[in-house]
Amino acid sequence: MEKATAVANPNIAFVKYWGKTDEELNLPANPSLSMNLAALTTVTTVEFRRDLPADLVTVDDRPLAGPALARVLAHLDRVRALAGIDHKAWVASRNDFPAGTGLASSASAFAALSLAATRAAGLWLDEAALSQLARLGSGSACRSVPAGFCLWEGEDDETSYARQVAPAEHWNLTDVVAIVSREHKPVGSHDGHSLAPGSPFYAARLAAVPGWLADAGRGIRQRNLDLLGPAAEADALAMHGVMLTSQPPLLYWEGGTLAVLKAVPDWRREGLDVYFTMDAGPNVHCLCLAATAAEVEGRLRRLGVPEVVVSGPGQGVRLVDHYLF
Ligand code: PMV
Repeated sequence: MEKATAVANPNIAFVKYWGKTDEELNLPANPSLSMNLAALTTVTTVEFRRDLPADLVTVDDRPLAGPALARVLAHLDRVRALAGIDHKAWVASRNDFPAGTGLASSASAFAALSLAATRAAGLWLDEAALSQLARLGSGSACRSVPAGFCLWEGEDDETSYARQVAPAEHWNLTDVVAIVSREHKPVGSHDGHSLAPGSPFYAARLAAVPGWLADAGRGIRQRNLDLLGPAAEADALAMHGVMLTSQPPLLYWEGGTLAVLKAVPDWRREGLDVYFTMDAGPNVHCLCLAATAAEVEGRLRRLGVPEVVVSGPGQGVRLVDHYLF
């Protein structure tokens, strides 16, 4: 069997995935729209071997254990079933972004694992099939398979995957990430999704999503931040509204989060074109054009944000010809 290495970027959603219609298959309650983040990468090497007594998985040189390991093993089982093999796998994965910053994304992890494992098993999946497979590992991972700006939609297992809406080169949109806290999140997105339907605001958010999707999609196609930005901000706040009103409530914000959420609209009033979005964590993603990214970064630092990561649009998952072992 071959050995294969894949590289993937995480992605930031402008219209979010929060809540599922099928927990096993990771079918989302609504379509979502995202951009891959070029500045952050996960590299994963996979080899299937007859001589291994058990699967061996390391992330950043440490053996994976517990529920995180179980999710990877379940994904390897999917690939073994597709390839008709029962060899155990050696998997090594490395992130170039600091662990525990709230950026350690399962999206880039399962996108890279899907490509490396299928190639190592001798399979060639097309982009749609690879995105569909990555979705089963972690929903948002399907959006890290195509390059650039992606829309994840579809009704069932066969049709639910991400398609590119514009390549990375289409627009120099930049995500200036304010890392306000390195605390580990109390409830991960995996459990958060199942709490979402318990919120009285869940249906209201879903009803508003088509309008935000339309604006965000046009914003990307027309390279118009003032169309994309308001939709992204409104949906991020709606998603956190759902989180805050779940049972038990999910409050991901820290003090530093609120400082940035209040500053961004102030900066806009001062003439700086910048909008925010957030995922299931305390960090704030500031969306602006490449030309204003340094100004946004400087203002975040003056606000007291301890760490800032700046990223433009990233490529899709790809093979490389070096190995981690
Ligand atoms: O793919 P998951 O299960 O990690 O869910 C991702 C959820 C959010 O990051 C909060 C939103 C999104 O669409 O990426």
